[in-house]
Amino acid sequence: MSTTFTIDAATSRATPVAAPMKRLTIPAVRARKAAIAAGTGAPLVMLTAYTVRTAQLLDPHCDLLLVGDSLGQVVYGLPSTVPVTLEMMAAHGAAVVRGSFAAAVVIDMPFGSYEASPEQAFGSAARLLKETGAAAVKLEGGAAMAPTVRFLSERGIPVMGHVGLTPQAVNQLGGYGARGRTPDEADKIVGDAQAVAQAGAFALVVEGVVESIAVAITRTVDCPTIGIGASAACDGQVLVAEDMLGLFERVPRFVKRFAALGPAIDAAAAAFAADVRARAFPGPDQVYPDRR
Ligand code: KIV
Repeated sequence: MSTTFTIDAATSRATPVAAPMKRLTIPAVRARKAAIAAGTGAPLVMLTAYTVRTAQLLDPHCDLLLVGDSLGQVVYGLPSTVPVTLEMMAAHGAAVVRGSFAAAVVIDMPFGSYEASPEQAFGSAARLLKETGAAAVKLEGGAAMAPTVRFLSERGIPVMGHVGLTPQAVNQLGGYGARGRTPDEADKIVGDAQAVAQAGAFALVVEGVVESIAVAITRTVDCPTIGIGASAACDGQVLVAEDMLGLFERVPRFVKRFAALGPAIDAAAAAFAADVRARAFPGPDQVYPDRR
């Protein structure tokens, strides 16, 4: 399966040429909100991707690929997303853009790269877009980040917001439990979402909240909501690809496994090890015979 280029053989030209990249645009993502409301648009599909091969495999099925800072735990084995750097995000973002041609690619702004001021955020976001070719950035936070969302949006940088459970704030939140269990906290999350949407976010990740909060946000903001641990009523859904592929042993409540790649990799590695130890690999088909 070639997932990077399609050859356009539909013209009268004798030499087929690579079809131009036709990525979903950010305005098209935003417009999905109205289309869903009108009953003419499907919910947005977003998965995380950190590497070129994963991007190639996921791209044909997704509207958006998110280069999430969850790569801190998934790829680097870090204890949280807090230590993730701009350099990591740029390197993985560029790989995902190289491996995709249909989905809009969004890159997470890592902790510490945008909170200090809108100017700091602009510098970091511009660097990510320049070095990767991605279409947009995502940043975590509510009303406090609204001026930054506006600053970037008005200067040509599309921003996806992220409210509810915001993993970069784990040290303040004290864990990854669902948010919004008290009326005050629920009101705060809905207000945060509205502030970020009004500031110009083109879409909003709503993570780890009591379902009624996700429903209220989706009803009241004018950009699409993309849920994770939120509600089927959101305008789209996102999962960490490694979670939905079954690469981890624990299945959090908000995850549905769509494959069992962890056990498949374990079985393949065991079979390889057994073959090597039995000198059954490589066999005659995997070595280069002398030519006589
Ligand atoms: O970093 C990430 O993967 C995310 C998604 C879980 C939304 O932010």
